[in-house]
Amino acid sequence: MAMVPVIQIGVGGVGRELVGQVLGARAALEARYGFRLEYLALADSAGALASGSPLPEERILAAMRAKAAGGNLAASPAGRAIQSWDELVPDGPCIVVDVTAASGHEVPLADAISGGARVVLANKKPLSATWSSFVELTFGAATRYEATVGAGLPVIATLQGLLDSGDQVTRIEAAMSGTLGYLCSELEAGVPLSAAVRAAHQLGYTEPDPRDDLSGADVARKALILARTCGLEWELANIPAEPWFPPTLAGVSRDTFMARLEDLDAPFAARVAAAKAQGAALRYVATITPEGASVGLRAVPADHPLASLRGPDNLFSFTTARYAERPLVVRGPGAGQAATAAGVLADIVATAREM
Ligand SMILES: NC(=O)c1ccc[n+]([C@@H]2O[C@H](COP(=O)([O-])OP(=O)(O)OC[C@H]3O[C@@H](n4cnc5c(N)ncnc54)[C@H](OP(=O)(O)O)[C@@H]3O)[C@@H](O)[C@H]2O)c1
Repeated sequence: MAMVPVIQIGVGGVGRELVGQVLGARAALEARYGFRLEYLALADSAGALASGSPLPEERILAAMRAKAAGGNLAASPAGRAIQSWDELVPDGPCIVVDVTAASGHEVPLADAISGGARVVLANKKPLSATWSSFVELTFGAATRYEATVGAGLPVIATLQGLLDSGDQVTRIEAAMSGTLGYLCSELEAGVPLSAAVRAAHQLGYTEPDPRDDLSGADVARKALILARTCGLEWELANIPAEPWFPPTLAGVSRDTFMARLEDLDAPFAARVAAAKAQGAALRYVATITPEGASVGLRAVPADHPLASLRGPDNLFSFTTARYAERPLVVRGPGAGQAATAAGVLADIVATAREM
């Protein structure tokens, strides 16, 4: 039985779900493809579970239970403190899976590729750093990154399929933030923005500081990944995102921001009313064309596919030379730990099959 070594960085919500899915899928993968996915190491922000050989399943599960209860990997049996996860990457073929949200991984990931590894990402940051690092990571299809955009939805695969078959992408329009989609639906239902943001925060739909979602930066990163996949040599600065709050609320503490959310209610109610008066719906939309990109709130006409979106669902519309009259649309839940982990696992399996 061929062994495929896996190093996983990040055991948060998505990472722990992924561990469960990998262990659960192993027997079926062995029967179908004749290889076995083996965890050589799991890392969190301060430690790792690693012994230089495949980790026993019971030890992995015990560490995941401890992690879910607020523990850390360094304190688990066979765990140890580490300076950085890159010390865990062996020479030779293996799959390095990044399910963190950390910055600065592009260089060690590229080094791992140079040493013979392949990479799978849910983390958007390595691909939204510089254009040259995007090229380094993706050259020769060394990195798969389906879950970075649209969670488990087949967005990157669809786009790469269009490009690989010689189609020309002329326009991508997308609503790709579950959090901002939820807020748009609540606004449309007449809920004040302040109440909608507080509810989203309590439901765990937003980051701990909701401005991380409301700034639009996460959507801009996804738009950059789509644009770069199309071969556009852009940097993040080429994709200005419209924030949901004024500059005066950018520098205050999170508590002050939350206390002043009511300041935003009247302007947003006016925007929703203006859109409704035109028979349109307000959506947070990324538009990418070869000429440029925009990310912001748009009043979309009622017959536009984006107008029918509800709640946290995502929608990606690809207009191309072949799909010129009616765009190719990918639509569905674009967030959630299980869907995201499944997208990552599908990438791991596709990579393992190639190895
Ligand atoms: N949740 C979704 O619906 C969704 C959808 C699509 C994509 N994603 C992406 O999936 C990724 C993971 O999301 P999540 O919700 O699982 O995040 P999370 O719960 O915050 O977990 C992040 C994990 O990464 C670890 N980590 C952070 N910095 C690290 C470093 N420098 N080295 C090693 N480990 C490090 C953390 O360690 P500690 O445990 O020690 O803090 C934690 O285990 C993010 O990039 C997110 O954007 C999520």
